[in-house]
Amino acid sequence: MVTMLLPLVLCLTLPVFFLFFIQHLRAFKKPPLPPGPKGLPIIGNLHKLDNSILCMQLWHLSKKYGPIFSLQLGLRKTIVISSPKLAKEVLKNHDLEFSGRPKLLPQQKLSYNGSEIVFSPYNEYWREMRKICVAHIFSSKRVSSFSSIRKFEVKQMIKTISGHASSSGVTNLSELLISLSSTIICRVAFGRRYEDEGSERSRFHGLLNELQVLMGTFFISDFIPFTGWIDKLKGLHARLERNFKELDKFYQEVIDEHMDPNRQHAEEQDMVDVLLQLKNDRSLSIDLTYDHIKGVLMNILAAGTDTTAATSVWAMTALVKNPRVMKKVQEEVRNVGGTKDFLDEDDIQKLPYFKAMIKETLRLHLPGPLLVPRESTEECIVDGYRIPAKTIVYVNAWVIQRDPEVWKNPEEFCPERFLDSAIDYRGQDFELIPFGAGRRICPGILMAAVTLELVLANLLHSFDWELPQGIVKEDIDFEVLPGITQHKKNHLCLCAKTRSHI
Ligand code: HEM
Ligand SMILES: *[C@@H]1O[C@H](CO)[C@@H](O)[C@H](O)[C@H]1NC(C)=O
Ligand SMILES: *[C@@H]1O[C@H](CO)[C@@H](O)[C@H](O)[C@H]1NC(C)=O
Repeated sequence: MVTMLLPLVLCLTLPVFFLFFIQHLRAFKKPPLPPGPKGLPIIGNLHKLDNSILCMQLWHLSKKYGPIFSLQLGLRKTIVISSPKLAKEVLKNHDLEFSGRPKLLPQQKLSYNGSEIVFSPYNEYWREMRKICVAHIFSSKRVSSFSSIRKFEVKQMIKTISGHASSSGVTNLSELLISLSSTIICRVAFGRRYEDEGSERSRFHGLLNELQVLMGTFFISDFIPFTGWIDKLKGLHARLERNFKELDKFYQEVIDEHMDPNRQHAEEQDMVDVLLQLKNDRSLSIDLTYDHIKGVLMNILAAGTDTTAATSVWAMTALVKNPRVMKKVQEEVRNVGGTKDFLDEDDIQKLPYFKAMIKETLRLHLPGPLLVPRESTEECIVDGYRIPAKTIVYVNAWVIQRDPEVWKNPEEFCPERFLDSAIDYRGQDFELIPFGAGRRICPGILMAAVTLELVLANLLHSFDWELPQGIVKEDIDFEVLPGITQHKKNHLCLCAKTRSHI
């Protein structure tokens, strides 16, 4: 009897053993995690990282550990990508798996729990919201509808600078360019224009600055659970709550203003008009609430203001440091501009060297050197390494755009490199990705580009730029201020000279 049962028992149990064995073999053969520095228990590598120079620190680590390496930020697994080839893997070939965003406290709070585009997780809601905004807010039709606002504001700035020039004063370009960028965004988004020195204006600037600071602040509880009390002790929660409440009040005022039946309508709809109109549109696949609208307004403020301002300051800084390029780009601009006192958006299409100069600025001085962090939505394999689900992903564009394997003399500011090249920043060429790439690519590229071009072309057309007395070009530096957007730390102050023949 027993001998008859034995084969049966074996038949039944062997496959189980076999499966067990295979499973183990698989686990054994599971691809490794990317290499990286060893961290301490619980805090990982957090204690070694400095938020204000993170991209440089990550650059040094990539030299040691390679173009894909891992870090442990507290309990959060993190990987850092530092080559064009791997950026393509992550942002194109595995775009779907890397289209999440990590949930971080300040971002969650200020985005109405992700009721918007930038910080929403990757889901159906985000897809619809992004589709709606791309069609109605960021479209080329909408962007061109704001051209008279841009023109007016740039002209105002040129007038201000002419005043400085005729009194031989110094122009604080950092201040003017930051102010210009926020004035333009305020008008196109909210239909508001603040007087230069008014208290409403300083309230708005205060709110915007604090928003940027908080977005760039590390809340330790995002990386180590049960440490919320540390953030509380540091007063971070109170600051976040205050900024959120004040911003909420600001958005609400703007919305109420737009719903007032007695409101005088401007010629062009601003973004709040558009969003409120969409709110009443029953054919949309999602019901837009006021919180969604406020979330999108936050995105436009946070993503659209400082980035454009910082880039225009970097461009002027690079030009002052490189007189050869300054001369060449001014010649081109003035050739097309002729005796006109203002270049408009059509004139700018005839300026290849000028456009190459803007690309070169975004290559070396991009405002967001680590882009906006992504998060993996499921486990996947990249370059033979295993990336678990919910891993934070930094793409170090600052390093990628200086990669000596793809860029000749990478540190040199040389717009010529783009003249005979098809490389562009629209997310197809992974050696130049200041706006990211893939599903999450910046939807504001067009708006950023037309603004930057209009501002810079007219600064170069109208004035010659000299260094203030006692300053030499070597004194002008590229030091950056800590924060999510890299601003020039030392303000750029120059002397404008009005061109003699206009
Ligand atoms: C020089 C100016 C700008 C730069 C360098 C820039 C850069 C970026 C980058 C790197 C991302 C993340 C992309 C990714 O994850 O792959 C992003 C996202 C975004 N940007 Fe921009 N941006 C600029 C201007 C603007 C402007 C003017 C707006 C709108 C008014 C805007 C709106 C957004 C939004 C809504 C997102 C989130 C997209 C998403 O997560 O789906 N940006 N931007
Ligand atoms: C966000 O979520 C938290 C916790 O789930 C909730 O208490 C809070 O009211 C939400 N905030 C908004 C603006 O929806
Ligand atoms: C330039 O403007 C900034 C920002 O308003 C200000 O903090 C700075 O003191 C100004 N610098 C000079 C030299 O005027």
